[in-house]
Amino acid sequence: MLKLPLKFRKPPETSNSIEPPQTLDKTVGKTVDKSVMVRMENVQKVYTNGAAGLNGISFDLLKGDFLFITGHSGSGKSTLLKLLYGAEQATYGDVIVNGINLAGLKGDNLAMLRRRIGIVFQDYKLVSSRTVSENVAFVLRAQGFSRQEIQRRLLPALKMVGLTDKANCFPNELSGGEQQRVSIARAIVNTPPLLLADEPTGNLDPENAWQVIKILKKLNSFGVTILVTTHDEQLVRAANHSVMQLRDGYVYSVKPKDRESAID
Ligand SMILES: Nc1ncnc2c1ncn2[C@@H]1O[C@H](COP(=O)(O)OP(=O)(O)OP(=O)(O)O)[C@@H](O)[C@H]1O
Ligand SMILES: [Mg+2]
Repeated sequence: MLKLPLKFRKPPETSNSIEPPQTLDKTVGKTVDKSVMVRMENVQKVYTNGAAGLNGISFDLLKGDFLFITGHSGSGKSTLLKLLYGAEQATYGDVIVNGINLAGLKGDNLAMLRRRIGIVFQDYKLVSSRTVSENVAFVLRAQGFSRQEIQRRLLPALKMVGLTDKANCFPNELSGGEQQRVSIARAIVNTPPLLLADEPTGNLDPENAWQVIKILKKLNSFGVTILVTTHDEQLVRAANHSVMQLRDGYVYSVKPKDRESAID
């Protein structure tokens, strides 16, 4: 039987206003199941200027899942990811990643959590004065990996994204698709169990976009839990994974992976 790992709440029929916080299960951080990679429990985000980022979202993402998050501009996709890697704090509700409740998580504890999360952005965020190898190795160096360990990890990461022959190029010598693949190599070189990607294909043509999705699918087949935001409906359909659609900061719909037509 198909197990749907996502609980969701439809938006209320009437207003756009933020729901009052509901009673939270304070024990959730302690009791969270080991098979759960991400749990959001009635999560609301109000930015300091009063803008509503998320309006009360609850879902579980199990370890090894691959989830697309879709929705119009401003529906809360980036906000959701930012809450997961601690770039923003939830106003209400619980955000739990790999068993850790992010409420009030700061400093070294937050840094430790981020080491276990790979992040990919639409605009690649590569350092232009460093080569491909240096861009990828930089993360490991910053985390105190030994020279030997960096060498051991570098090649497999570049191989995974098909860029071993570009190791000594600078970002401006690469196509957009190649630059995005470098950013994926950088995100996974320390083998995080969770990869978050915010519009990773937003700047790419269909062929390069599909190549990126194929790499994410491959990582997922190795057990990495993947959460990707996108506007690209066609890509989502072709990739065939679970899809959670946001609207105005709510989960509007959840569609599970179609196992019948899976083409992994
Ligand atoms: N730093 C911020 N300060 C204030 N409001 C913000 C901030 N970031 C996002 N918002 C607001 O929160 C809402 C959700 O924004 P978010 O960036 O999460 O949407 P999105 O779904 O990622 O949109 P897009 O598809 O355009 O990237 C929007 O109304 C936005 O204006
Ligand atoms: Mg966004």
